[in-house]
Amino acid sequence: MPAFSASAPGKVILFGEHAVVYGQPAIAVPVRAVSAKASITPDIQGPGGRVVIEAAQAGVAAGLSELAEGDPLAAAVRAALKELGVSRPPAFKLRVNSTIPMAGGLGSGAAVSVAILRVVSAFLGHALSEEQVSQLAFEVEKLHHGTPSGIDNTVITYERPVFFEKDRPVEFLEVSAPFTLLIADSGGSTPTRVTVAAVRTAWQAEPERHERIFVQIGELARQARRVMAAGDNEQLGPLMDTNHKLLQQLEVSSPELDALVAAARRAGALGAKLSGGGRGGNMIALVKAEEAEAVAAAVKRTGAVGTIITTVRGS
Ligand code: PMV
Repeated sequence: MPAFSASAPGKVILFGEHAVVYGQPAIAVPVRAVSAKASITPDIQGPGGRVVIEAAQAGVAAGLSELAEGDPLAAAVRAALKELGVSRPPAFKLRVNSTIPMAGGLGSGAAVSVAILRVVSAFLGHALSEEQVSQLAFEVEKLHHGTPSGIDNTVITYERPVFFEKDRPVEFLEVSAPFTLLIADSGGSTPTRVTVAAVRTAWQAEPERHERIFVQIGELARQARRVMAAGDNEQLGPLMDTNHKLLQQLEVSSPELDALVAAARRAGALGAKLSGGGRGGNMIALVKAEEAEAVAAAVKRTGAVGTIITTVRGS
């Protein structure tokens, strides 16, 4: 039995991906149906400083000292040790498991970092604060995709819907009435750093056109915040549809994502869009709770390789 364990949920971005990198607001919500879990078993007989990491999904089974500087699992462990000023921890084995699909825009990287930071600090007897966990997970995120906005580590650490603006204090969203989302995996995936870099190149070539799109996306996030506070959730649907069109203009959608979005709408979804970096990964659809299964079946017939139904609540 592991002596210590910690977990962190997945997430989806409801509004504002990509534009958030350029200072616009975005909305993200935790997805508790999937999670990353990290557990520690002390190695009582092991020499001081010996740390072994096992993460089946990432294909890692190695000593911390053997893992490269840029390895995100090792980076999260090292970040926790450094923050606590511990250079030779008592020997331990860290196991990481995650049900969050990798590279799908559901925050698997940030969730794994958060779980590791929590469990390592708890094991060392000094649980890190939420602020420390989020900030350190942000540093590790930089290894994954270069110029992250910070939205993933924030929503995943605090496990609450957030209205996020880069370099601003986190704002928790008021969600007056719960609503249901269907999340569908398009099968393919493109690393977020690749789509973020593609948008950057396109922005550099045509700054004004792109900035107009970013501003429109930011405005959708602001409208959505008002709608959620008022509990007028059905109005989120058209806002999601518009956000998807703007993401298409940024060329981060894909034929598969567009097909899933169209199938969800045909099956009765109130609105749908890609979520996260795009060019693969997941789409999200706003659905009536009683229609969620039917929409899930429809997107599966259209090629979705997995679906998750989740309820968004205020806390
Ligand atoms: O990690 P993903 O794929 O959910 O995407 C993150 C959202 C982006 O806006 C594309 C990048 C970022 O750092 O905010």
